[in-house]
Amino acid sequence: MANFAKGLEGVVAAQTRMSYIDGEKGILEYVGIPIGELASHSTFEETVFLLWNLRLPRQAELDAFTKELRSRYELPAGVLQRLTALPKNAEPMHVMRTMVSSLALNDADPNNIELEQARKKALAMLASAPTLLAAFHRYRTGQPIVAPDTSLGLAENFLYMLNGKKPTPTMAKAMDVCLVLHTDHGLNNSTFAARVVVSTLSDMYSAITAAIGSLRGPLHGGANEGVMKMLNQIPNVDAAEKFVLDRLEKKDKIPGFGHRVYKAYDPRASHLKVLAKQLAADTGNTDLYEKSTRIEKTMESAVAAKGIYPNVDFYSATTYHCIGLPLDLFTPMFVIARIGGWAGHVVEQLADNRLFRPSVDYVGAHGVKYTPMNQR
Ligand SMILES: CC(C)(COP(=O)(O)OP(=O)(O)OC[C@H]1O[C@@H](n2cnc3c(N)ncnc32)[C@H](O)[C@@H]1OP(=O)(O)O)[C@@H](O)C(=O)NCCC(=O)NCCS
Repeated sequence: MANFAKGLEGVVAAQTRMSYIDGEKGILEYVGIPIGELASHSTFEETVFLLWNLRLPRQAELDAFTKELRSRYELPAGVLQRLTALPKNAEPMHVMRTMVSSLALNDADPNNIELEQARKKALAMLASAPTLLAAFHRYRTGQPIVAPDTSLGLAENFLYMLNGKKPTPTMAKAMDVCLVLHTDHGLNNSTFAARVVVSTLSDMYSAITAAIGSLRGPLHGGANEGVMKMLNQIPNVDAAEKFVLDRLEKKDKIPGFGHRVYKAYDPRASHLKVLAKQLAADTGNTDLYEKSTRIEKTMESAVAAKGIYPNVDFYSATTYHCIGLPLDLFTPMFVIARIGGWAGHVVEQLADNRLFRPSVDYVGAHGVKYTPMNQR
């Protein structure tokens, strides 16, 4: 069959004005702005505005957007009861997928995909996601649930609701920068999933729910948890090299390395590396950072020739750990950031839709005679 590309590698399946990636040169831009500039100067709220409107906001516009977002921090009536009916040992990614999906049940008009309405639903999901995640964590650990504080930005408010006390400005800023770095990334697997779902003219809730399911996988967003588990398995800095070489010998993949698109250093990873180093020093976790750099060095000699470099997940593991996030909240944090990207793509898809319906190369048998049950 003509044009079969396993994993759709190299296939251009959509157009976007949101993010641009040059995988050979290690460039990522949101609406033309290099990711490093946004990480240094922007905020998550401003970045989402940028991606949804394809331009930076003026102050009054940012204020209005932020106000609207904060007004939706509080969960709709009944959602908390639903959340606290879930098993306490549920995996937070399953909780996020279930609870974000269930927000549709509190929406009087969930299927409305007029662009403005779709955006409003996305904004409500984005505002609710941190509240859902923090509330679930408090519930499962037997701590009282903390109501959102609408005077705080999304990142700071999340850490406040999670820990019951306001984070230091450094921690709040680090969390915010992580969100900015994770907001959008071309037609990655989960974004593609969201676009595929909404191309049937389904709804924003279904599209975001599908994307969360995709992000959970260890080849995608789940890799940041894999990195942390690996760092925990390595007893000390000097053991890192042997650990990596042994795994490579067994043909195992090292989580946090490699990328379908980047064949150079992931620009998000370079930013996170600096952040991880500073936070590790501030929080007494330099061993984690040093193990990471030793792994990177070993990987450089072993596989850099194949274009395998650290990706966004590698240094985000140390960063999240230093911020104080429990391991199984790493990927859910990615969900919160990426709702910004997914929703923007859903709206882009709706604005110029064509149903995704690729063909499949049938490689099975033909003309097989039906065998009656008693002869099988
Ligand atoms: C992300 C990923 C799925 C990209 O995969 P891909 O584009 O299909 O690349 P491939 O799996 O074909 O890898 C190409 C080569 O690099 C090697 N490679 C890729 N990622 C590797 C890793 N993390 N560790 C060691 N080797 C790796 C492969 O073994 C393969 O080697 P070979 O040509 O000798 O067989 C893959 O790099 C991976 O599984 N990484 C670990 C998980 C991860 O961090 N995911 C998050 C991505 S943001």
